[in-house]
Amino acid sequence: IIDVEEKLVMPGVIDVHTHMREPGITYKEDFATGSRACVKAGVTTFYDMPNTIPTTTTLKNLLEKKKLAGEKSIVNFGFHFGGSKNDNVEEIKKVLRNGEANTVKIFMNVTTGEMLIEDDEVLKKVFGNSKLVLVHAENEMIDKAIELNKNYGKGLYVCHIPSEEELKKVINAKKNNELNTKEHPVYAEVTPHHLFLNTEIRESTERNKMLLRMKPELREKSDNEFLWEAINRGEVDTIGTDHAPHLISEKLEKITFGMPGVETSLALMINAFNEGKISLEAIQKLMCENPAKIMKIEKRGKLQEGFFADIIVVDTQKEWIVGVDDTIESKCGWTPYENWKLKGKNTMTIVNGKIVYENGKINDSHNGKEVNFLK
Ligand code: DOR
Ligand code: ZN
Ligand code: ZN
Ligand code: ZN
Repeated sequence: IIDVEEKLVMPGVIDVHTHMREPGITYKEDFATGSRACVKAGVTTFYDMPNTIPTTTTLKNLLEKKKLAGEKSIVNFGFHFGGSKNDNVEEIKKVLRNGEANTVKIFMNVTTGEMLIEDDEVLKKVFGNSKLVLVHAENEMIDKAIELNKNYGKGLYVCHIPSEEELKKVINAKKNNELNTKEHPVYAEVTPHHLFLNTEIRESTERNKMLLRMKPELREKSDNEFLWEAINRGEVDTIGTDHAPHLISEKLEKITFGMPGVETSLALMINAFNEGKISLEAIQKLMCENPAKIMKIEKRGKLQEGFFADIIVVDTQKEWIVGVDDTIESKCGWTPYENWKLKGKNTMTIVNGKIVYENGKINDSHNGKEVNFLK
């Protein structure tokens, strides 16, 4: 029996878009610290991106990553396999056949890592041999991804859409019944930072000029507003954080793209609910239900068992100050929302029926064996 008083009980957050940095870049984050950040904030499942070292572009590398996460993660996890500029289509086929991943992430613009694919023939082959393809695509690359999906693909998930102009492209595709069909659906992801931050905030201090850099870059206040309106029209499918930790020393030394996100995403959204910007139902859809549907977690046979009890308890009225009232679990040690006063905080996280976070304390005694790997 758990007494939750007046608090809100909801499904655990599923974050489709994180960079946990293991293997190879573990001075920034690893599966232990990244998953601790998750449980604290109410994220019970994360999907990790392939731009690690080595890149997750062979079945062997994927299996090694899976082993590492299995030993360390205290939440459920899955992986997006990576498309390689060197044409790893045979590896993609192997991975999809083995069911070790169901999705392929490709980079169509320059960002952190060395995974940019520019060769059209490789892009066509990747779309032609994958199920759902997640893209880092900006501006006209979004048009290209939509075309590739229509002509060759079986599903497109556009990551971190930052602006009115770019989101309109994806919304138009979603509404066009030749571009968005059952055979090749189109999904739109928006990050918290493109909702809550903008160039005005970035340019306001020397520190923010360095810290608030990522790909895609922050846009204008009017873009924030368009993204919120689109969310409230039901035109956005998911909130993914693009949790991309870099040490603060690296960020302050030279322009480095990416910011942490899992530790603040739900609280920011609950705060937005308190400000009248979004309903609790919409938060649940964007952060729990739609990710589960898109990643097909709900259809995974016996794995389902573990998912009946990924539950969080949120105090929607709790006021707190980010980074002051709490410590940062992510190895990167900072947050772009430091000193933000928020109303709404996760108070308890249950993963697969076990309480792993309660009243500020993380119980990580059950890592590895008791979390689920999501094929
Ligand atoms: O800002 C970003 N950082 N954008 C990306 O696409 C990758 C990410 C990272 O891995 O650091
Ligand atoms: Zn990206
Ligand atoms: Zn990313
Ligand atoms: Zn991204």
